[in-house]
Amino acid sequence: PEKYRRNPTPNLADRQWPNNQLEKAPIWVSVDLRDGNQALANPMTVDQKLKLWHELVDIGFKTIEIGFPSASQPEFDFTRRLIEENRIPDDVTVQVLVQAREHLIERTYEALEGVKKAVIHVYNTTSVVQRENVFEKSKDEIKAMAVQGAKWVQEYAQKASIAHPESEWVFQYSPESFSQTETDYAVEVCKAVMDVWQPTVDNKCILNLPATVESNSPNRFADQVEYFIRNLPNREAAIISIHTHNDRGCAVAAAELSLLAGADRIEGTLLGNGERTGNMDIVTLAMNLYSEGIDPELDFTSPKKWIEVVEEVTQITTHPRHPWVGDVVYTAYSGSHQDAIRKCLLKQKNGQPWNVAYLPIDPKDIGRDYEAIIRVNSQSGKAGSAFVLAQEYGLNLPKWVQLDFAPVAQKLAEEKGGVVSHIDLFEAFKAHYALGE
Ligand code: KIV
Ligand code: ZN
Repeated sequence: PEKYRRNPTPNLADRQWPNNQLEKAPIWVSVDLRDGNQALANPMTVDQKLKLWHELVDIGFKTIEIGFPSASQPEFDFTRRLIEENRIPDDVTVQVLVQAREHLIERTYEALEGVKKAVIHVYNTTSVVQRENVFEKSKDEIKAMAVQGAKWVQEYAQKASIAHPESEWVFQYSPESFSQTETDYAVEVCKAVMDVWQPTVDNKCILNLPATVESNSPNRFADQVEYFIRNLPNREAAIISIHTHNDRGCAVAAAELSLLAGADRIEGTLLGNGERTGNMDIVTLAMNLYSEGIDPELDFTSPKKWIEVVEEVTQITTHPRHPWVGDVVYTAYSGSHQDAIRKCLLKQKNGQPWNVAYLPIDPKDIGRDYEAIIRVNSQSGKAGSAFVLAQEYGLNLPKWVQLDFAPVAQKLAEEKGGVVSHIDLFEAFKAHYALGE
């Protein structure tokens, strides 16, 4: 509908994307403790944040946005605890968000006193809708807000360095709602910010481009990113970061295409937690790379523990069909799928490229097992369990055993809500006939 046709997108008739296949992992940034926290019905307590922080460190994040310390006391206190209790490993950088407002920037540096290294992430909105309807400010006035914010960030860093010359500061600017901003204007604002910070190739700043509300198709968002990168003077002095939300369900696709369009860094959360439909899901993007043979440089080999922590602190359960880590994603219900998987697994040799139908990766790589599943009911119980035991364990059950075992399978299915994995079925079979291993 016409009503929604208002996103300015650049003309890229001569497009030549720098690449059509990703070759390496981006720089990852977890924003679980900030964006992921701000839209929770019950925001995390300081102790819950600490618990999740340690999981993020264990997974291998080297930059973690820990919150908005000037916004509330718990956010401030969490920052202080990380610093005072020496919980930040040397190779991990904390990032904090702040609006382009002086008293908030001042308070942010107070929260960070004594930190080894931090990214100060300052933002103001630049979108057409917010300029016109929320701030009622002109383009020049909004640009002036960004420039003023950049100056305060720099000035307070200089002040903080007097007492703590050992602290290292990295500056990041986000034109909030970049995707709903005229792209040439976003370049103009970011260039003005860079003019203040004077970054160099050896001392880069970060420009973070958010799809604050996902309102374009992923290829159009990537066009905006590509246009931005091509037209930004002194691009080599900036790390181009992407921060997508999932309103249209395409946050991962938008991030992936943005990397192809030349971006360097991705902000997101575990399992896509975050405002409204969530932030870009880092697990999905990282595992997508993994499944293409690219080392994601994040360790998702045993997700059970951190999923439990994420579920506990967010009070949101993981969808069983969540890409890569959902409960049922390495199962096969259909007999023909089970048959194909079994044949492929028999031919799969150690060390050879993974070549198994219906299983995009080896489930063991992510701490899981493939499970053939049968639905047992009064119709399918006998034939279904005989089929799965033959398929998966080579047991050709005589008719009388099929009949004898059917009620056992039936009872198990009732306990399990109608479906039984081959593993549970085999265990029940062994127990029923008192068979050993
Ligand atoms: O979605 C967004 O625009 C943000 C910014 C503050 C980076 O979270
Ligand atoms: Zn966001």
